[in-house]
Amino acid sequence: DVVVPFRGEHQAGITTPAQDRLHMAAFDLVTDSRADLILLLKEWTRAAEEMTRGNKLGEGTDSYLAPPSDTGEAMGLSAANLTITIGFGRSLFEKPFLKIKDKMPAALEPLPHFPNDKLDPARSDGDIIVQACADDPQVAVHAIRNLARIGFSTVSMRWSQLGFGRTSSTSRAQATPRNLFGFKDGTANLTSEDAAGVDEHVWVPEGADPKAAWMTGGTYLVARRIRMRIEIWDRTSLQEQEASIGRTKTEGAPLSGGEEFTEPDFSAKGSRGELIAKDSHVRLAHPSTNEGVKMLRRGYNYTDGSDELGRLDAGLFFIAFVVDPRTHFTPMQNRLSAGDRLHVEYLQHVASGLYAIPPGAREGEYIGQGLF
Ligand code: HEM
Repeated sequence: DVVVPFRGEHQAGITTPAQDRLHMAAFDLVTDSRADLILLLKEWTRAAEEMTRGNKLGEGTDSYLAPPSDTGEAMGLSAANLTITIGFGRSLFEKPFLKIKDKMPAALEPLPHFPNDKLDPARSDGDIIVQACADDPQVAVHAIRNLARIGFSTVSMRWSQLGFGRTSSTSRAQATPRNLFGFKDGTANLTSEDAAGVDEHVWVPEGADPKAAWMTGGTYLVARRIRMRIEIWDRTSLQEQEASIGRTKTEGAPLSGGEEFTEPDFSAKGSRGELIAKDSHVRLAHPSTNEGVKMLRRGYNYTDGSDELGRLDAGLFFIAFVVDPRTHFTPMQNRLSAGDRLHVEYLQHVASGLYAIPPGAREGEYIGQGLF
């Protein structure tokens, strides 16, 4: 089956088994009308539902004398498990004419500056975020392009990001993929099979924020464009690479021993007679170092050509869904940015976004309806 249902209690594209391709786009409002935004969300909901079914927009209703409703490049392709996930940035709530400021979730508090961040504002934030994921890049690009076209004169695109080779598995049925450092990524991720874990760490429960009751069943999306110092990494010994992560490169097993899915044991010496390093990524990101918090990681690799020094402009477009970034992202990122060998030596965060992802739309509703 290549069709993921669009409607439901939660939006698709979160616990959906991670597809292979990403096109994410952030939009800014260019209107000063609340009615325009509501109309846009209604039209986007309708178009998203059609496209995720694999249908062409405007089928049978287009005039020969007008531009076609559908841009056409997905004709003949399957739905390729397309999901479209829509959310709102803090700047949207701050627009006085929308009259939604009193409904802004407290969890949308701006992320702090983390050590070693070098963020490009033009590639960060945005009023509205749209994540399109599919197993065919043309299907994902088609979805964003058609939504942008529908939004013409209501929103303009602020930035967009293509990603490939999902770097996380979000279901045990998926083999663990690898990131551009060559390591398996997603081994200890929250998976859709872990319903209790997802309920605890991803979906906003009732009563979480009285001002933002419309977020019940929603979640928060953290996006970080993380540049990887590929050339330096590639000249680093295997021993240093494995020590930085805390896992073996081939199997993805913790350095304390066992196989890929064995829990790391931070007090046990592995086959090389060493403990998992205190400054390793797995040690610092592990729930035992982070008050038990987990996140649903759903990132993608990216390469955007090379820079003026001939180095690959490549890395991980990190995406995580969490119940509250103040407890489930910021403390962990502070720990990683300050002391994780991977972050300190080999990574640089170059863009950032935080968005409220409302719950799913039920039959007859549009995405974000609870906010208006
Ligand atoms: C685990 C790589 C950024 C949070 C891992 C693993 C790898 C990895 C190889 C081990 C396999 C796994 O369990 O998935 C990377 C790379 C990054 C990056 C290459 C950046 C380019 C981040 C960031 C965060 C994060 C920014 C969160 C703020 C985690 C967590 C785990 C993990 C929570 C699971 C730890 C556990 O429970 O054992 N990462 N990571 N990672 N990473 Fe990252």
